Amino acid sequence: MIKLGVLLSGSGSNLQAIIDAIAAGNLDASVALVVSSRPDAYGLKRAQAAGIPTVALSREVYNNQAAADELIANELNRANVNYVVMAGYMRKVTAPILNMFPNRVINIHPALLPSFAGAHGISDAWEYGVKVTGVTIHLANAEYDKGPIIAQEPVIILEDDTTETLEERIHAVEHELYPKVLQWFANDKVHLNEKTGKIDIL
Ligand code: GAR
Repeated sequence: MIKLGVLLSGSGSNLQAIIDAIAAGNLDASVALVVSSRPDAYGLKRAQAAGIPTVALSREVYNNQAAADELIANELNRANVNYVVMAGYMRKVTAPILNMFPNRVINIHPALLPSFAGAHGISDAWEYGVKVTGVTIHLANAEYDKGPIIAQEPVIILEDDTTETLEERIHAVEHELYPKVLQWFANDKVHLNEKTGKIDIL
């Protein structure tokens, strides 16, 4: 059983998928804390409905990024979390959090990294006109969207897709993949190979 701290900024549908997987007995984990970078994020409501403690930070707090991440790291530590799970968290995670949870900060990205990094992975892939995009789950490190890759799943872009239908299918893949990968962590299957810098799934 692993304890997760979830960071989010928006709808929180990935948080919901994690909560549902735990309730269904498909994920040996608990969510000990949800931190939102926005006080109005719908994800906070999902957390509260599931009885999960929350911390919401205002925009002003991030004017001092180091102090904000210090605060978040301390809250996560106080909640005894083992892993920090970024689920639509639209802020960088910096040294105070990365140092408190080395190789234990996980991010989901709605494209096949290293393609289409950044805040608009779905629309950037759509605009470029690629025929395949997908979902990446990776360890976060100091280089934004560049940490070692844990899992990827392709999503084919269909001729009759719109950005909306593509987004729906990407989210559906995310909601399957994130709980599955977190269960790999619960089973201690995810190992960072110090020699190669890559992730081995054992
Ligand atoms: C997800 O698609 C996630 O991959 C993306 O934000 C969405 C959040 O949805 N994250 C990023 O783009 C990070 N760069 P949710 O709030 O419904 O889980």
